[in-house]
Amino acid sequence: MPSRPYNIDIATHPEVLHRRAAEEFVRHAETAVRTQGHFSVALSGGSTPKNLYALLASQDHAFRAQVPWDKVHFFWGDERHVSPDHPDSNYRMTHEAMFSKVAVPTAHIHRIEGENPDADKAAAAYEQTLRHHFRLQSGQLPRFDLVLLGMGPDGHTASLFPGTKALHEQQRLVVANWVEKFNTFRITFTVPVLNNAAAVMFLISGEDKTDMLRTVLEGEKQPEHYPSQLIRPTHGELLWLVDQAAARLLEHKG
Ligand code: 6PG
Repeated sequence: MPSRPYNIDIATHPEVLHRRAAEEFVRHAETAVRTQGHFSVALSGGSTPKNLYALLASQDHAFRAQVPWDKVHFFWGDERHVSPDHPDSNYRMTHEAMFSKVAVPTAHIHRIEGENPDADKAAAAYEQTLRHHFRLQSGQLPRFDLVLLGMGPDGHTASLFPGTKALHEQQRLVVANWVEKFNTFRITFTVPVLNNAAAVMFLISGEDKTDMLRTVLEGEKQPEHYPSQLIRPTHGELLWLVDQAAARLLEHKG
């Protein structure tokens, strides 16, 4: 019997977390390519994933040679409502950290068009991108091989922020979500899409996440306030990959 009610891997340092994340990425990619010939991954924005992307693409590490780059299809679980060259763009961050350093077929990089002035249209277009790639019939959900997620100190994940409309969306795959505190739309996968993945991996690092990690994992279930609690893959695995600073207040450390 596992001694804790969730699957968590606590790394001693952020660098160890980045390496563990890279190992998991490679493992999922190898399995998917071996069994189905390609690997579909949804990336996250944020600082921890950025370190992972840089590590995967780095010439100084073995990971670069282990990733089957030409068989990976890259998507994003969320995007800011900005153009791809904007400093806030998740696409731009990924491009700088990873795509600019390795050979990935352009047709395999499926970005959210955050530059569309109409955020609803950008979300609808991305939904079509998913339907096309996964050859979905009406009512079907895409099944990503791996979804990477971060968590904000407010408990948000992807662009599912506390108290926002997108938390309740059950029909759409991708929506434009108005985030009052930033006075902007974010474009985000919906909960059903995230929970239909074969594997979901949260990457969480740093002191500013300590309280929220405890609340999300061991506190009362209040998903309207702590949207990360909504992530429970229906028939897939969920791994919390965290560093010691973020895990400090957890009761079930292993
Ligand atoms: C984004 C994200 C977001 C992020 C968290 C954690 O676009 O910002 O996808 O959900 O993962 O805010 O970010 P950090 O890893 O930087 O703390």
